[in-house]
Amino acid sequence: MKHEKHDLNDFQSEMKKRLKRGRYIHSVGVMYTAMNLAMRYDVSLHDAGVAGILHDCAKEMNNEELIKFCNSNNIKLTEDELNNYSLIHSKAGAYMAEKKYKITDENIINAIRYHTTGKPGMTRLEQIIYVADYIEPNRKDIPGLAQARSNVYIDIDKTCGIILENTIEYLKETGKSIDHTSIEACKYYN
Ligand SMILES: [Fe+2]
Ligand SMILES: [Fe+2]
Repeated sequence: MKHEKHDLNDFQSEMKKRLKRGRYIHSVGVMYTAMNLAMRYDVSLHDAGVAGILHDCAKEMNNEELIKFCNSNNIKLTEDELNNYSLIHSKAGAYMAEKKYKITDENIINAIRYHTTGKPGMTRLEQIIYVADYIEPNRKDIPGLAQARSNVYIDIDKTCGIILENTIEYLKETGKSIDHTSIEACKYYN
């Protein structure tokens, strides 16, 4: 089903109002990076831009607010998610994109839903948002960043593998819980 076209500039102004400055700058970085990758991988620039600018739309809520938001909207959280705040904002963000920002395209909604964990067999758009979130120009140096940036225009599957591996390694080192979806995705892309 062809979805309704939204004005990217409207979403950008909305995010500028709602997000803290640093997060807004990051979101714009993800938006442009995603659109650029969309050019390379023959994906709709519009869809990549919308998913990019909205991907962190739920991240202004703190942990408590996010859990309350999920409970009151019947968004079921897994054990892994309950133990890791950074996972919940993606799920809540996908919900907000659909209900509040009236996104009807499942591919855009899922790109937001899986932008933190990745998943096996991602669509091109899902891969683009997953990668853009990691490599956008404002990111401070993180392990695997340079390698991901230099590979992404050559092989986005391989790049997903690089990012997943580095993210899981980082979570292990810092003692944070790792979502099983990321582990499965890491096996899939490596
Ligand atoms: Fe995020
Ligand atoms: Fe992000």
